[in-house]
Amino acid sequence: MLVKKITLGLAQSDKNYGYGSKQKDKFFQLINFALKNGITRFDTSPNYKNSDNLISHLNTKNLKISSKIPITEVKISKLDSFINHTIDNIFEKNKIERLENLFFYDPLIPIEKKRWHIYLKKINELKKKKLIKNVGFSVYNKYEIKNILDEFKPDIIQFPYNVFDQSLNNSDFLKELKKRKIILQARSVFLQGLLCEKKIHNHFNIWKDQFQKWNNFLKKNKIDNNIACTNFVLQNKLIDNFVFGFRNINELKIITNNLQDNKSNLDYSSLATNDRYLIDPRLWSNLNDKKFRYNYEEYRLNKGKILFGGMLLSKRVDQFIPGKWPNFFDKAYGCKIKDKNKTFLDFSLMGVGTNILGYSNKNVNNKVKRVIDKSNISTINSSLHLQLSKNLIDLNKWSSKCFFAKTGGEANAIALRISRCFNKKNKVAICGYHGWNDWYLSANLRKKNNLDHVLLSGLETLGIPSEFKNLVHPFFYNDLKSLKKIIKKEKNIGTIFMEVQRNIPPQKNFLKEVRKIADQNNIVLIFDECSSGFRENFGGIYKKYGVNPDIIVYGKAIANGYPLTAILGKDVVMKSAENSFISSTFWTDNLGAVAAIETLKEMKRLKSWIKIKKIGKKIKKFWMNISKKYQLDLEISGLDAMPSFNFKSKKNDYYKTYITQEMLKKNILASNTVYCCINHDKFLQTYFKELEKLFKRIKYFENEGNILNHISSPIIKKGFDRLN
Ligand SMILES: Cc1ncc(COP(=O)(O)O)c(C=O)c1O
Repeated sequence: MLVKKITLGLAQSDKNYGYGSKQKDKFFQLINFALKNGITRFDTSPNYKNSDNLISHLNTKNLKISSKIPITEVKISKLDSFINHTIDNIFEKNKIERLENLFFYDPLIPIEKKRWHIYLKKINELKKKKLIKNVGFSVYNKYEIKNILDEFKPDIIQFPYNVFDQSLNNSDFLKELKKRKIILQARSVFLQGLLCEKKIHNHFNIWKDQFQKWNNFLKKNKIDNNIACTNFVLQNKLIDNFVFGFRNINELKIITNNLQDNKSNLDYSSLATNDRYLIDPRLWSNLNDKKFRYNYEEYRLNKGKILFGGMLLSKRVDQFIPGKWPNFFDKAYGCKIKDKNKTFLDFSLMGVGTNILGYSNKNVNNKVKRVIDKSNISTINSSLHLQLSKNLIDLNKWSSKCFFAKTGGEANAIALRISRCFNKKNKVAICGYHGWNDWYLSANLRKKNNLDHVLLSGLETLGIPSEFKNLVHPFFYNDLKSLKKIIKKEKNIGTIFMEVQRNIPPQKNFLKEVRKIADQNNIVLIFDECSSGFRENFGGIYKKYGVNPDIIVYGKAIANGYPLTAILGKDVVMKSAENSFISSTFWTDNLGAVAAIETLKEMKRLKSWIKIKKIGKKIKKFWMNISKKYQLDLEISGLDAMPSFNFKSKKNDYYKTYITQEMLKKNILASNTVYCCINHDKFLQTYFKELEKLFKRIKYFENEGNILNHISSPIIKKGFDRLN
């Protein structure tokens, strides 16, 4: 009987929801109708005003009542009495003797080590006394469920499930939950009534296209909103029951009358969206803010017109906070970025590592401007490339030939082609991030998460030919065994492609041993210094460790933001590619070359690598000091000039989101990584002052506050993994 699957939600008993205390009679009518039709499950919460009053007037003996523990800010020392008080109140106010389900609203509870055992003790006690049958969580997305499951197996999970939010309409994930014997309860079937509104509130106009789609769907299928929403959940046979909140008895009648007439063949997939500001009502408060709305509409427009909303993953606004992080820059200079209205200090990615000499460096720009006036391109090549190649070969004395490209990814593809020309061996051992190209991503064809440990987790192989499988094999940094194993197993590894150093330094002799292994096996050793170059010393960081590669690739900062990447190699290796076709029009443009020549000159004059290392060390020291002061467990990593931190806490993503959110309010662009530039020094105190305030708050969240009450942004999940 489908009606048995209905849980009547009582959020509507709150007068702000439509049925207030004044209309109690009508609500009783609705409840009586429900009872008569066989509905026995009721979903209440101490937060739903009047719901306890209503329940207390019913004969609850044969009813299955659910209630919730709200999100709270309670000192750990007072938590025990808070839980007792809240639960006692649920029983007393509703006049019930037993709860079918007790839900926690707060998905962070199980990952809060200091609190969870207090909750758990109470849960066990209540279950033992048979006062509560099931304990579970009311969540908003898969990410929250995953976090919970890492710590605790709930009896039941209540999650949003509607035609817009189809993120949990992934049968594999739900199947997995079912396998673990977790009861699945869907809620937000009507997205808090939004899907049933005749006219959309102005605030939701941002998504008028989405609502238009919805209306067209209803028209095309000649179906009523309520029924379409209900049918959608009924289609999923894995779901045990669903919470329906009705605004009036008519809605309930329509649904119960149509339960048997389920149009299970309707395809709802085109209505799915992962726009969190629409599907997560916790974020709806942002819609009251005009500036947010403007920014967010601009963000959506951009995302609609430009694939992914941008060409570089790390710059996509989704990697920060849509609606709050600026969409476009108007001007950038030093370590400042101006958008239409405000000037921000950039204590984040500095062009994602391109501008060690600051944005719009005057000396570099002046040289570039002069070249522009004389033309950046012609039928004849520019001598600037020859000049630059001499400079770079001089800087890497073991090399004797150079080649130029525009991006790191393509420079690496060129380097690999050259290497394959040299020893005619196709297979590659990699240790690092080397760009977006097919050859690199093919590493994930063999095993889905092969590249997860390198830099970006969750990289898909969509669009990568399966024929590339088995060509690329990642090994672990500082783990010679893993490299040797690959070489032994794969037989014809021809290239070792690696970053010399990213998060942690190489162990003693690691690089020397890699060199030895390459030599013994006729393998070309390529150092990818796209990110590490010019940050630790003048040139590649490899110089510090006294190990030369056969080919080196530079990118990112080499031309202080102008597009140029360079491949340098030993003569024999480079020459072997002479009969290979490697050629592209814009590699010949000389703006990057002139910018690189001037950048190298400026770096040498200013000893920029010493400056940025010093700045980075100060930043690392400050992070260390405040983490100690506020007793927060922090992991600091990265090159001195490119430092990073992470909280050693399951709430790391929450804390990082909070920091970005709050720093934006102070006009500082901040994440957990700073790409240092020579201009940062003057602004360190501003950054430190603001950051310390946030660490202090985070300490408060650890002990008595609740970060969920202070985040009004989608949680930032870096990389390619999706939150839902
Ligand atoms: C080490 C390394 N190699 C290659 C790349 C790819 O460079 P690009 O984004 O210019 O293609 C990057 C970019 O982050 C990198 O850090």
